[in-house]
Amino acid sequence: MSASSAGYLQKHGINILTPDSPQALALEQKQFSPTIHGDKVWSSTYVVMDYLLENPPPAHSQLMDVGCGWGLLSAFAAKALDLNVIAVDADPNVLPYAQLHAQINHTEIHTQALEFDDINVQHLKGIHTLVGVDICFWDKLQPSLYNLVERALEAGVDQIILADPGRGPFHDLSDRCKEHFNGRIEIHHCTIPVEESAELLIIEKDLLPY
Ligand SMILES: C[S@@+](CC[C@H](N)C(=O)[O-])C[C@H]1O[C@@H](n2cnc3c(N)ncnc32)[C@H](O)[C@@H]1O
Repeated sequence: MSASSAGYLQKHGINILTPDSPQALALEQKQFSPTIHGDKVWSSTYVVMDYLLENPPPAHSQLMDVGCGWGLLSAFAAKALDLNVIAVDADPNVLPYAQLHAQINHTEIHTQALEFDDINVQHLKGIHTLVGVDICFWDKLQPSLYNLVERALEAGVDQIILADPGRGPFHDLSDRCKEHFNGRIEIHHCTIPVEESAELLIIEKDLLPY
């Protein structure tokens, strides 16, 4: 693991909170207790950071991070990639952690409490890249995410990147997106701050079959 002098983990110069970080514990003490697994940075995030650094969206374009949780990916996209970021999650209790990640990295993101099913075409207009990490972990989330992908494409989103360690519901989502939207799976690895592999489901507007 790599740690900064302030006691955070670090990757690509970005400070990363852990559940033991005093500022994260302070938020927990203020009753910001996430309820849908948004209680830490999930490790597939680190794999997506590497992927986006190697395949950056255009500077100043808009990125939406759905199911953002603690929002590390959002802070990274704003700070390291110079993107305009909106971080969205159903659980309002995760959003202070996402803002804290932006704050400790001296950058800015927008946050909004929204469920996948409530993200409509208007919300998605103007978004270049839609990302979601570790968000397809229950069977019931699969149709919600498939429909969100469909609305994103309808709104003109250029690329959608969904990452997961490889759970069953994510594979079901991937199969549907491969069939209907020419989606593809790429497997990527990272070593910092932990060794991790993740499957990235990538759907690109330019590769749509229609
Ligand atoms: C496993 S965490 C992943 C968080 C973050 N993306 C990461 O990788 O660290 C899943 C996140 O999805 C959010 N979530 C779950 N169901 C959701 C829904 N129906 N709509 C929006 N967000 C949802 C949870 O609140 C949680 O923050």
